[in-house]
Amino acid sequence: MKILRIDASVRGDTNEKHSYRSISRQLGNAFMERLEMNKFHYEIKLRDVGKTPPAFIDENWLAACFTPEEKRTTEQKQALALSDELFDELVWADTLLMTTPMYNYGMPAALKAWFDQVSRVNKTFSFDLARGDFPIAPLLSGKRLILLSSTGEFGFEAGGVREQMNHLAPHIRTLCHYLGVEQLDEVQVQYQEFADHRHQASIERGFAEVKAIADRLSDDAVVQRESACA
Ligand SMILES: Cc1cc2nc3c(=O)[nH]c(=O)nc-3n(C[C@H](O)[C@H](O)[C@H](O)COP(=O)(O)O)c2cc1C
Repeated sequence: MKILRIDASVRGDTNEKHSYRSISRQLGNAFMERLEMNKFHYEIKLRDVGKTPPAFIDENWLAACFTPEEKRTTEQKQALALSDELFDELVWADTLLMTTPMYNYGMPAALKAWFDQVSRVNKTFSFDLARGDFPIAPLLSGKRLILLSSTGEFGFEAGGVREQMNHLAPHIRTLCHYLGVEQLDEVQVQYQEFADHRHQASIERGFAEVKAIADRLSDDAVVQRESACA
């Protein structure tokens, strides 16, 4: 498995005060530790957009995208350098491990900047009006997304009291479809701002779910190896 881990919290995971540590990053760590424990074979690339946010795209970036590759100036190639690097990482990966907080009911701006940089016409998606009202189609396929997130409030799940205010996972799901994601696992810890027994229960459930996903992937890999040997 080739994992591209994208971390989006501005908080780190090493603060000496435990409650200041990013929960979403800790979920990601627990996932990786579980794979290690299961002796699961993987390769990993790290992209920490929380600590090093990608630049926002601008008019030069857009003009460069729409200039055929062989006609791009040195400045245009430079404008797309980060985008190309992020795109190559995406293509390399078969699994996206994305850890993110909810900020202002959606994703952090740094993570949106990553999506804006990596989503490219004729690279991640094609645009063809012959498709009628849905001209955009993904060019990549077969990827898995493991989305681990944390929120301060609660009730963002289907049927929850804040379902309509949840612009985090629904937005990421929509965007990831156009990055070739076809399988999705999602874990969310809620109630961080309440710091009460409900938060504690949500943490326990979240970490248990993360470990279960890692175990399932490890079991699948064993089955695949065995059937390849049979
Ligand atoms: C700038 C900012 C905006 C936030 N906006 C929301 C929000 O809209 N809804 C919510 O439930 N929690 C919100 N929170 C709380 C975070 O989602 C919560 O603290 C979460 O645990 C952060 O993720 P982390 O622990 O991985 O850093 C916000 C926190 C910050 C710092």
